Amino acid sequence: MYQADLEKVHNSAEILADQLRIDALPQHVAIIMDGNGRWALERGYSRIAGHRAGVESARETVLLCRDLGIPALTLYAFSLENWKRPQEEVALLMELFTEFFQQHCRQFLQEGVRLRVIGRIELLPKPVQIMIRELERATQAADQFTLTLALSYSGRDEILSAVNKIVRDTEKGLVDRHSLNEAQFAQYLSTADLPDPDLVIRTSGESRVSNFLLWQIAYSELYFTKTLWPDFSRRELLMALIDYQARDRRLGGLSENKECPEQISDVSKHAEFFYEEKDKEAYRVTSSLEKCWYQPVSLASEPQDPSLVSSWLD
Ligand code: IPE
Ligand code: IPE
Ligand code: MG
Repeated sequence: MYQADLEKVHNSAEILADQLRIDALPQHVAIIMDGNGRWALERGYSRIAGHRAGVESARETVLLCRDLGIPALTLYAFSLENWKRPQEEVALLMELFTEFFQQHCRQFLQEGVRLRVIGRIELLPKPVQIMIRELERATQAADQFTLTLALSYSGRDEILSAVNKIVRDTEKGLVDRHSLNEAQFAQYLSTADLPDPDLVIRTSGESRVSNFLLWQIAYSELYFTKTLWPDFSRRELLMALIDYQARDRRLGGLSENKECPEQISDVSKHAEFFYEEKDKEAYRVTSSLEKCWYQPVSLASEPQDPSLVSSWLD
C-alpha cells in the first residue's frame, strides 16, 4: 500500500473515533466557520453556494457533537462586521438563515437540541427575529445539548453592552461597583448560562479570532485548520477533539504531573503567599504551594505591596 493510502486509512473517522476519550471531552466547543467563499471560488460557484454548503457542515457538526455527548456548541455564523458585505450577499445569507430555521425547527424539537441565538438580533430581518424567538421558546426545556448561534455578533459589542447594563444596575443600587467580580460580570454577557468554551476551532487557515467571544475564550484551547468550512467533516472534528485532549491545560498553574496541589480557586488569597518577603531580592511561596515553586523569583525593582498585588488579581 502506498504511504498516502496508509495515512488515509489511519486517519479514517473510525480509527480516530477509537482514539477519542469520551470521559475527557470538552464541555463547550465554539467554531468560527470560515472559508465558504473560497470553497465556492475554487469550484467556480457563487459565494452563496459556498454558504449553502456550509450549512450542511454545520448541521453535521451539530449532530456529531450532540451524539458524542458534548453539551454545548457555539457556531459563529454572521458577525456584526459581516453587515459590511455586499447587500446581495447579506440578503442571501438572511434567506439562508430563514431556511435553516424553518428546515431544522422540527428536528431540533425532536432531537432535544436547545437553540439559542446571541448577537444583535434586532438588526436581523423581522421574520428571522420572530423565528429565532419562537425556536428559543420551543426548545428551552431541552437540557442535554445547547446549540448557540452567533448571528450579527461582536465580542466587543457584547462586552460594551454588559458594561452599560452594569452601569445602569449600579445606579439602581442592584450592583456594588466596588465588589464587582469576574463571575458577576460574566452574568451580564449573552452566554451567562454557558461554561466558557474549552475548545475554539477556526477553519480556512486564518489564525485570528475575528471578534468572537472575546471575554469567554480567555483560556480556551485554539485549533486552526486549513480546511474550508464546507469541507469540515466528522473526521476533522474528531481530529480537533483528539488534538485538544493531548493539550496540557495549565490555566496559569503548573502541570498536574508536577505534583501541584489541587486547583486554586481563590487566586487573590494565594497571591499574598506569593509575595511574602523573605529578603530584598527573593520570594518563595510559603503556603502549601511551596513544592510547586522551583526557583526563587528575583525582582529587579523594589517589592510590591502584597495587598496591592492581590487587589490586581481580585
Ligand atoms: C464564513 O465564510 C461565513 C461568513 C462569514 C458568513 P466566508 O464568507 O467568510 O468565506 P471566505 O472567508 O470569504 O472564504
Ligand atoms: C468570521 O469570518 C465571522 C464568521 C465566521 C461568521 P470573517 O470571514 O468575517 O472574518 P475575517 O474578516 O476573515 O476576519
Ligand atoms: Mg471569511
